[in-house]
Amino acid sequence: MRRRNYCCLIAVTMALLLFVMFLCGVISGHTSVASRSHADFRVSGRALYKLDISWPRNPEVFTGQVFAVAVDHVRGRVYVAQRGESIPKVLVFRTDGEFLQAWNTSSLDTPHGMFLANASADPSLWVTDVGSGPFGHTVKQYSPDGKLLRVLGSPGRAGSSLSPLQFDQPAEIFIHSSGEIYIVDGDGGENNRLIKLSPDPVKNMKPL
Ligand SMILES: *[C@@H]1O[C@H](CO)[C@@H](O)[C@H](O)[C@H]1NC(C)=O
Ligand SMILES: *[C@@H]1O[C@H](CO)[C@@H](O)[C@H](O)[C@H]1NC(C)=O
Repeated sequence: MRRRNYCCLIAVTMALLLFVMFLCGVISGHTSVASRSHADFRVSGRALYKLDISWPRNPEVFTGQVFAVAVDHVRGRVYVAQRGESIPKVLVFRTDGEFLQAWNTSSLDTPHGMFLANASADPSLWVTDVGSGPFGHTVKQYSPDGKLLRVLGSPGRAGSSLSPLQFDQPAEIFIHSSGEIYIVDGDGGENNRLIKLSPDPVKNMKPL
């Protein structure tokens, strides 16, 4: 009786092993087909994604390190921030991949995070700037075509956490539909905080 149980156990283990080998074969078979065709990537017959090498259509416009992306889903615009010397820091594409424009971003040093606010009514693009140059340590609001609307922070001066609006390399920003602004500050070390700003004082700030 004990011997029969033992045989059963071996048989079940073998069956399990064969099943696992079969599964691995299915997965690796699909992977190698995908990597050969460069068309789509499938796992167990399910398509994960399809590579579209024609999107975006003008990859040569990327001249720096790409760092952040924000999308205006209402108007079909994709904003990409890049870093580098003497290059446009924000590139604008249509969601179908067509390149539209590069902003003149002489007021932007080193973009880190981006957020597209108020897409349904009056969209604007917010960018955090972690640069150590004369424009750094700020959060900036731009119109959809790149006009600087508002600057939060003290350009070129790293802050201490004593002042709510003096940042030390603010990293990311989120704007709630209520107008409240959340900022994580910062990447530099003097500040290490999450701050929340209410909309009213921010509304009254003008570009410096
Ligand atoms: C970008 O804007 C700055 C400041 O307004 C201006 O001095 C500069 O000539 C502009 N550059 C280009 C390429 O338009
Ligand atoms: C969005 O834009 C509308 C129209 O300008 C404005 O009334 C509203 O306050 C804006 N909302 C936020 C969160 O900025």
